[in-house]
Amino acid sequence: SKGAALVTAVAQRLASRKRQVDETLAPFKLSQEQLQLVKATMRAGLEAGLKNKGPSAVKMLPSYVYHTPDGTERGKYLALDLGGTNFRAMLVKFKKGLQNNTRLYHKIYTVPLEIMQGTGEELFDHLAQYVSDFLDYMGMKKAHLPAGFTFSFPCEQTAIDTGILVSWTKGFKATDCEGHDVVNLLREAIKRRNEYDLDIVAVVNDTVGTMMSCAYEDPQCEVGLIAGTGSNACYMEELKNIEKIRQKKQKTEGDEETPEAVEDKQDDGSKGDKKAETSETSRMCINTEWGGLGDDGSLDDIITPFDAEVDHNSVNPGKQRFEKLTSGMYLGEIVREVLLDLTRGGLLFRGRVTETLKTPGIFQTKYLSQIESDRLALLQVRSILQHLGLDSTCDDSIIVKEVCGAVSRRAAELCGAGMAAVVDKIRENRGLDHLNVTVGVDGALYKLHPHFSGILQETTRVLAPQCNVTFLPSEEGSGKGAALITAVARQK
Ligand code: GLC
Repeated sequence: SKGAALVTAVAQRLASRKRQVDETLAPFKLSQEQLQLVKATMRAGLEAGLKNKGPSAVKMLPSYVYHTPDGTERGKYLALDLGGTNFRAMLVKFKKGLQNNTRLYHKIYTVPLEIMQGTGEELFDHLAQYVSDFLDYMGMKKAHLPAGFTFSFPCEQTAIDTGILVSWTKGFKATDCEGHDVVNLLREAIKRRNEYDLDIVAVVNDTVGTMMSCAYEDPQCEVGLIAGTGSNACYMEELKNIEKIRQKKQKTEGDEETPEAVEDKQDDGSKGDKKAETSETSRMCINTEWGGLGDDGSLDDIITPFDAEVDHNSVNPGKQRFEKLTSGMYLGEIVREVLLDLTRGGLLFRGRVTETLKTPGIFQTKYLSQIESDRLALLQVRSILQHLGLDSTCDDSIIVKEVCGAVSRRAAELCGAGMAAVVDKIRENRGLDHLNVTVGVDGALYKLHPHFSGILQETTRVLAPQCNVTFLPSEEGSGKGAALITAVARQK
């Protein structure tokens, strides 16, 4: 009959639509072999970055943090934190007595886009002004506090309190900062105000701060992970493997108490009972800057045309390729590129490419997280899309949810592959068949997304079967960590 024919036709159309969507999403679905390959690529990147052969995709930056906290840290510190779009100023007090006895006061300031992308002087003047406001707020203008500066961009460090910005990431592009010591830039801005004094003792990457703050609670924490606006990890590496530092130190001999001196003694054969003691001073935390993996083309096999488009439209094309597959700043943009393609192909939104859909940045992490939440009925997905200015049918919302799922699953799996490479390296460094290790984590993608953390953990487990990895979300991580590092640097 005519009715039956119509039903068949509709069913066929739906099936063909589904097939086409599946085809579009196929390159986002990574096989076990592909993930193993990413793990191996990351491992090779970590090794290459430790060598002294000039720039590498994975930068492997020394942090001059030699050990995790031991709970004896005391005192009052200021922690300043520039990472994404926010600047945070924080007062952290570590008290005598039981561990965990930390008090924290903080204020958050939004850095306007025109400041992020203006001149370096304006940017640092702004930061100095935020600090001024915070000191007023706390009534501590005259205190001359020791401060730790969490600066979440790649910095080449030669000491705990110097950090030369290698290159901006995550959409920042303030002029005259790359190639300069960011601690100096901040000191100069504070001097220009001529209104308060600070003793900036340490500059710290957010991954390192996160690891330190989690290690304060859990001594097995020797890795830090950020899955937020950006994507990055740090971990405790053996000093003897960090060629860049060995070479630098050889040129400036004479300092007997360097950890190398201790470690060299160990190399001389005096292992044995002193091992536990020496191993602690023979490591350094390395900020991997793993977001740069693939900048040499090593990830080209898994990069889709949608990823290429997102990279092309970014402020740093060709850079941070792994970060652009795995972090909150870019996932929404990948989703948008796929939706644009499906709409152009007539598979979505009745084939109408609206201005909204052409607007960069509409899908922030919080919306992706909501869309993918399992508790949400499709009707609610539709209302989120509506809120974003996208008029959808019920079928549309199913497809949008699928696209989000494919993009965020791949991100979590890639992070897991990276993490598997890191923890396996630590395990092999120590000659162990089995390693128990804790990863301190922060970032909105990890904390807010309904599936990211689960997939990350599962992938890490499968790809690093000889490691037992516990993920520990940090509370106020990077700031508290910077304060801890400041405390240790001060005690010396
Ligand atoms: C970017 C930065 C890196 C930071 C990460 C997370 O990858 O280059 O330094 O740790 O974002 O914020």
